[in-house]
Amino acid sequence: MIKTAITEMFGVKHPILCGAMMWLSIPPLTAAISNAGGLGNLTAGNYETEAEFRNAIKETKKLTDKPFMVGITILPSLRITAEHHAMYVKVCAEEKVAGVEISGAPLDKGLGMDAIETLKKANVKMFQKVGAVRHAVHAEKVGYDGIYAAGIEEGGHPLKDDVTTMILTPRIAETVKIPVVTVGGVADGRGLAAALTLGAQGVMMASRFVATKECPCHDNIKEELVRRQEMDTTIFGRSIGLQGRALMSDVIRDVIAIEERGGKLEELIPLISGMRIKQAWETGNVNYAPLMVGQSIGLIKKVMTVKELLDSMTKEAAEILAQKSKMASA
Ligand SMILES: Cc1cc2nc3c(=O)[nH]c(=O)nc-3n(C[C@H](O)[C@H](O)[C@H](O)COP(=O)(O)O)c2cc1C
Repeated sequence: MIKTAITEMFGVKHPILCGAMMWLSIPPLTAAISNAGGLGNLTAGNYETEAEFRNAIKETKKLTDKPFMVGITILPSLRITAEHHAMYVKVCAEEKVAGVEISGAPLDKGLGMDAIETLKKANVKMFQKVGAVRHAVHAEKVGYDGIYAAGIEEGGHPLKDDVTTMILTPRIAETVKIPVVTVGGVADGRGLAAALTLGAQGVMMASRFVATKECPCHDNIKEELVRRQEMDTTIFGRSIGLQGRALMSDVIRDVIAIEERGGKLEELIPLISGMRIKQAWETGNVNYAPLMVGQSIGLIKKVMTVKELLDSMTKEAAEILAQKSKMASA
């Protein structure tokens, strides 16, 4: 057992959270992670109407009586608008979910201080995913309950400050008083032990959860992540102002070639659209669309169940922490 501010805040067994994952963080995976003692994530962007989103929360509650987070991504999107963001916040408050993971713009800037007040009144814990100390300071100031410190190693959309998790975690932990969770580059108990040593109260993973039995994607992709190594991801999208990290593949090579010759967003959209990514997860064709995984894939050795993953991570981290404490005397 590892007890931290995160396990205490949510009453969970493991200080391990799943990050938002478009197309993958849906009720069966969300509930599997929460049932195994971690904090699952239900990713709001998967749902375009209020009824669909509310049903997904209700479905998750049917599958688990444990707490879970809702991921709300406030980034430019052709499909998900500011009205969607406001609807997600309203429904999260009404359904009294345990907490929200906000990425991109913070709630006060994306939706206004009312959104923060609404969630606070409903006792929904608010965490902001940040890639810089200044953004963590802002989130604490406007009333957030915790920070996800996401380094450049992470899958998804790391901040263009390009600071690594190893530096970002202690810098944010020494600066804010609210709990910090390390994000990016963690896939096993060694990463959990390291994050706790750096001042974090837990870890968030997403890439590692893709290679679990319960993840709703094609088995080809899970096996591919086991085969691939830490150098097999790359950053793309800098030319359009929204960088992403994805698995190196034919389509990513094409995207980078278009960017290098000064191609415009219109040329890129057909290759990186959300619907294309959805299809790639379903069919298992890793070369068809950008799969937004991080460098932590180098640490994935096998596909296992979520419970095996969480139990083995906490055990390994507890053993490392106990063993290391014997190495030193103050
Ligand atoms: C398949 C996949 C989809 C993701 N989709 C989102 C998303 O929709 N919104 C978001 O804020 N982050 C997204 N992320 C980023 C994760 O929530 C998390 O910050 C990151 O992956 C953690 O680092 P790791 O990849 O080393 O585990 C995604 C990550 C993956 C692997």
